[in-house]
Amino acid sequence: MLQVKVVSVVGARPQFIKCAPLSRQIRRHYDEVLIHTGQHYDSGMSDVFFEELRIPQPDHHLGVGSGSHAEQTGEMLVRIEHVLMDEEPDLVLVYGDTNSTLAGALAAAKLHIPVAHVEAGLRSFDRSMPEEVNRVLTDHLSTLLFCPTATAVENLAREGIREGVQITGDIMVDALEFYRGLAGATSTVLDRLGLAPGGYLVLTVHRASNTDDSARLKGILEAVGEVGLPVVFPVHPRTRHALAGHGIVVPANVVGIEPLGYLDMVRLMGSAHRILTDSGGIQKEAYLLGVPCVTLRDTTEWVETVDLGWNALVGVSPAEILEAVRRPAPAGERPPVYGDGRAGEAILDVLTAHFGA
Ligand code: UD1
Repeated sequence: MLQVKVVSVVGARPQFIKCAPLSRQIRRHYDEVLIHTGQHYDSGMSDVFFEELRIPQPDHHLGVGSGSHAEQTGEMLVRIEHVLMDEEPDLVLVYGDTNSTLAGALAAAKLHIPVAHVEAGLRSFDRSMPEEVNRVLTDHLSTLLFCPTATAVENLAREGIREGVQITGDIMVDALEFYRGLAGATSTVLDRLGLAPGGYLVLTVHRASNTDDSARLKGILEAVGEVGLPVVFPVHPRTRHALAGHGIVVPANVVGIEPLGYLDMVRLMGSAHRILTDSGGIQKEAYLLGVPCVTLRDTTEWVETVDLGWNALVGVSPAEILEAVRRPAPAGERPPVYGDGRAGEAILDVLTAHFGA
């Protein structure tokens, strides 16, 4: 076995999901050291994913928790740097666009440790999103950039980043392919909630732009109150605080529940009539599952889902949300624009070439 050491940095829910299939591949060939920054810390936002997806326990749990962007990112930088100086890895692997991603990339780059970015090149072209700032900076700090799509490669080229750029497909497809069967076989979420397949909608909201602005959050809930079907709403902690803070009452047809684990979420989304979300990953999962998506944002990184007719980008106007929900499902095909579920293998091939194995 090669004595190559990879430090992977995760911290938020979508990163646990992305790291599950890739970590399995990496550990076949390399030493992997896993850092959990602690950005997400509730058991339903963190532990459940490690258990269900059988992700190895983190070697370093930094316990950073919540704070302002500077506090959270700064605290992570300091603690990640200590670990990197101790572990002396050959590569630091970061995922997606969270504060944990940026902190991992910046701490490594300053120590001259090469950075690999999974989900590189995504852009919403909206710098008011903290995630966009994190993505742009992380890409400019990275040596290896694993792009899910051709659009992502073009975005990087436009910013002058061409070296180290690889199109690998999307690691979330790997995760979905791997766990979908298990979700179908084991999840009891529909029974628990008394839902019939096709007879309900799923709603998720957690983007700062929607939770911090009470008018936007109110508009979304007003619209879903009118859809005439039950709406299952797994409530992100940020959103729970915002609903309470803004004094917003959830309409009667909206079933607010605790955040779900991945297997329940996949099962729930797979049988939904429509999915309404401001999440990035869920737009793509809706496409992969063949469920029309209504995106409660003004921009998206996953433009293919919109271009192919499976995703309606409507913002938060109640009239537009309702119109999009009532639109007939698209008849179009769903070409494999996000790859074939073998992004993990493709990433491993690049790593092998990089380390000269
Ligand atoms: C983060 C990411 C976002 C990602 C999302 C997935 C950034 C800037 N944003 O947003 O890209 O799509 O995760 O969920 O990194 N909280 C809890 N318990 C938890 C986690 C959070 O109560 O386990 C609360 C805290 O009060 C915190 C708030 O939620 O202030 C927001 O958490 P934060 O870590 O800023 O990120 P997310 O909004 O989840």
